Amino acid sequence: MTTTGMRTEFQAWLEAVGPEVEAALEQALTLPSAAAAPPRLRDGMAHALLGGGKRVRPALCLLAAETCGQDRALALPAAVAVELMHAYSLVHDDLPCMDDDLLRRGRPTVHAAFDEATAVLVGDALQSLAFELLATQRDAALVQRQVLRLAAAAGPQGMVGGQQLDMELEGMGARASLAEVEEVHAGKTGALLAHSFLLGIEAAAGDAAAWEPWALVIGRLFQATDDLLDATRSTEELGKTAGKDDAVEKATLVAVLGLEGAQRYAEALAAQAQSLLAGLPAERHQVELAGLPAYLLERCR
Ligand code: IPE
Ligand code: IPE
Ligand code: MG
Ligand code: MG
Ligand code: MG
Repeated sequence: MTTTGMRTEFQAWLEAVGPEVEAALEQALTLPSAAAAPPRLRDGMAHALLGGGKRVRPALCLLAAETCGQDRALALPAAVAVELMHAYSLVHDDLPCMDDDLLRRGRPTVHAAFDEATAVLVGDALQSLAFELLATQRDAALVQRQVLRLAAAAGPQGMVGGQQLDMELEGMGARASLAEVEEVHAGKTGALLAHSFLLGIEAAAGDAAAWEPWALVIGRLFQATDDLLDATRSTEELGKTAGKDDAVEKATLVAVLGLEGAQRYAEALAAQAQSLLAGLPAERHQVELAGLPAYLLERCR
């Protein structure tokens, strides 16, 4: 099977579960807590969450449950929770005090479409809603495990910690070390992406510890490509302002290794993921899992 053929398999999974993910995200905004929000806050939440977005994290979460031979519906609350968390992280990432971006998913960012205070509060609200969603599940032991996992992925040792390092290293560009860039990547993006899959494994009572090394590599590969895309694609293709990392001298893989070096680095991560996958107990979806690194390497947005 060709690499491109496998890529298509994961793309097909994204397309297959897309409509049910979108419906579940819309449903989350009708929960009493969200529906009770002041209209401007609710509109901001909808702007951040709906309409656009590849939905890679919820798709991975649902794929994980089926990989364990279970019904993906078991993982739907976690799938929605990770996308809520991701949407919040994007709203805050785009704020003037962070990356100062006006375009996201081909539309104005939340602070541009509404105002800065609303954008801060939209992020806060989406994060609360993510934990609420996990907590509404019946299985109390599962709730505890998933709340702890999502907190670890999104919190100081994960996404938020990585964002802090990313901001501290802004202006360093090529003077940052590869180790620093790797720490940023693992934190700001790798953790939430990896744990999206592991939450799905957990929902299906699978062995999350066994899958963790593979999932962490997949998470780092996702951000390696994000750095490459910023340097090589247009604003129109990305739906977010291209070339921003170089303009503010972010400590990226491209700044530290150059374009070709960053591409080779990403390919090495993809190869590492493939060799780890060979030892893992996938009961289903072997082709989608095998196609994931190629999808991540070749994605254009
Ligand atoms: C962008 O994430 C921000 C990162 C963490 C790299 P995505 O590339 O998943 O963005 P959407 O959700 O598809 O818009
Ligand atoms: C964002 O990293 C990571 C999070 C949102 C947590 P980037 O700043 O590189 O993401 P983009 O390029 O703005 O989507
Ligand atoms: Mg950023
Ligand atoms: Mg950004
Ligand atoms: Mg980026």
